[in-house]
Amino acid sequence: MSVLTAPHVATLNAEADLDIAAGNKSLLRFLTCGSVDDGKSTLIGRMLYDSKLIYDDQLASLERDSRRFGTTDDNMDFALLVDGLEAEREQGITIDVAYRFFSTPKRSFIVADTPGHEQYTRNMATGASNSDLAVILIDARKGVLPQTRRHSYIASLLGIRHVAVAINKIDLVDYDEAKYEAIKADYLAFAKALGFESIVVLPLSARYGENLTVRSPNTPWYLGPTLLEHLETVDVESRAAEGPFRLPVQWVNRPNLDFRGYSGTVASGRIHPGDRVVVAQSGKESTVARIVTADGDLSVAVAGEAITLVLADEIDIARGDVIAPASARPEVADQFEAHVLWMDEEALLPGRAYLMKIGARYVTARVTDLKHKIDVNSLEHLAGKTIGLNEIGLCNLSVATPVAFDAYGDVRDTGAFILIDRYTNATVGAGMITHGLRRATNIHRQDLTVGREERAKLNGHAPVALWFTGLSGSGKSTIANALERKLIDRGIHSFLLDGDNVRHGLNKDLGFTDADRVENVRRVGEVAHLFVESGLITLCSFISPFRAERRMVRELFAQGEFIEVFVDTPIEDCIQRDPKGLYARALKGEIKNFTGLDSPYEPPEAAEITVSTVELSPDEAAEQVIAELVKRGVL
Ligand code: ADX
Repeated sequence: MSVLTAPHVATLNAEADLDIAAGNKSLLRFLTCGSVDDGKSTLIGRMLYDSKLIYDDQLASLERDSRRFGTTDDNMDFALLVDGLEAEREQGITIDVAYRFFSTPKRSFIVADTPGHEQYTRNMATGASNSDLAVILIDARKGVLPQTRRHSYIASLLGIRHVAVAINKIDLVDYDEAKYEAIKADYLAFAKALGFESIVVLPLSARYGENLTVRSPNTPWYLGPTLLEHLETVDVESRAAEGPFRLPVQWVNRPNLDFRGYSGTVASGRIHPGDRVVVAQSGKESTVARIVTADGDLSVAVAGEAITLVLADEIDIARGDVIAPASARPEVADQFEAHVLWMDEEALLPGRAYLMKIGARYVTARVTDLKHKIDVNSLEHLAGKTIGLNEIGLCNLSVATPVAFDAYGDVRDTGAFILIDRYTNATVGAGMITHGLRRATNIHRQDLTVGREERAKLNGHAPVALWFTGLSGSGKSTIANALERKLIDRGIHSFLLDGDNVRHGLNKDLGFTDADRVENVRRVGEVAHLFVESGLITLCSFISPFRAERRMVRELFAQGEFIEVFVDTPIEDCIQRDPKGLYARALKGEIKNFTGLDSPYEPPEAAEITVSTVELSPDEAAEQVIAELVKRGVL
């Protein structure tokens, strides 16, 4: 599906090449939004054709850009057309965005052409995150549609400040000025809340090339520019170069003992030798000694350039750190609020751990609070517990270690992040930070006088968590009970946490939706961790159907302290045993979201212990666990 169209390479236009090489032309990145039927491709194709731009100039501009921003060798860097997508491509998702490159005597353009169906919101977002302007197509016969509003909202969320509304197929409504005015009024009323800096509304016929590159005699009432004129002249002076300097460090360049530089692409602002800088996370300061590039040292570097900074002092900087001016630091926090646009079939579940890529850094992140979802048609706030495919939510997030960031509205590159599924490695969400949260920064860990070794010594054994997972009725609780009996008989200090019991107290507010199961297991994991801290062998009996949450609990513990016990009973046997009569009821449709029936169970891939209840009695299964504990030196 991926259509990363390489620009058409053709004969060079020598004049244009000179122009571009002299740096006389600016670059406009824009995207087109609308459905196929709105005439999107016709519009772009026709505009290129009318201005005789097809197959022309593209190579020259691309070469120029390759020289300016690209990698060092002489080959053209086609990836430039898709920069910013790299993270997503590394993650292996298919992005259905076609990039086209063209150039007029006045300006160079990169167009991101994105499919318009609702399920392609993610593609639109990908295109928008790299664009300065959005061309939003409206069919003159249909007017403003839900998708028009959706695209406009996402464009504004992603920091696009300029919109050209192309009311296409004006020929099909007889060039009716009243129709044009009505749609224009309708759109402007909606867009008022979105904070665009410029909105130009044009009556067009892509088919007949009217008001694209030449004015149409059929719309004498329209006095504005043609689309191409507008694109050539609209002032979108990239704010990136004007913002505060930000360099997310991609890697520490240390070829020998005499050289140490910090490499990355300037995300925002500009930097000169002699400038005072700070490492955002550690607060260590130094001065820029040199700005090194493949083409020699620079006296200034601006947003978009790949550089290596050499500092005057030896300070500790690692991949993922952000270098910034001492006078304009980014925020550093482990909690913030952000809009999250979800791109995965499987909904975002608050509490679940995802991998976040922010700048050059990867951290574990979770949504701690979904404040509301946004109906992109009405901009209304909706209550919700999860964020589904193509939905947008305003969330609080927390990350495992503090990260440096800016509000997305201030600096796009350091204010955006992507969320990655830790199992599939797919990019599942994109986020735009609104602001940091400082609530918990005045809470510090308190050192305790009595440590776990002392407790272990007193108890005569080390503590561990034994995590029983398996289907309802698989025998988890029965085996755990038999095991605890044996442990107590051996003088072992233990405690058993059981799903049904915990759900009567601590977790009585939770049901069996995916989101609630995630929260159930998260809380129980924390409680189990406390019990282990207290020195007990802690048995936990929970279906815990999702790998992600079992892994999250595992990560709370030290190596060897968490032992996953997979109680492996085929669902047919569970249905047959049905100790609580729940399967019978679920099969009759009386219980929804029942694990193994209409709610998934993900078996462990590498449990420390797997017990087969088809072959072993509960007592034998408990003995198997004891044997394993002896083998591991716990008992
Ligand atoms: S978990 O999925 O969140 O880990 P937990 O182990 O706490 O579940 O609770 C499972 C117990 O709740 C089952 O043993 C069963 O007795 C009861 N139960 C009630 N409804 C359901 C359901 N829809 N799915 C699974 N178990 C259910």
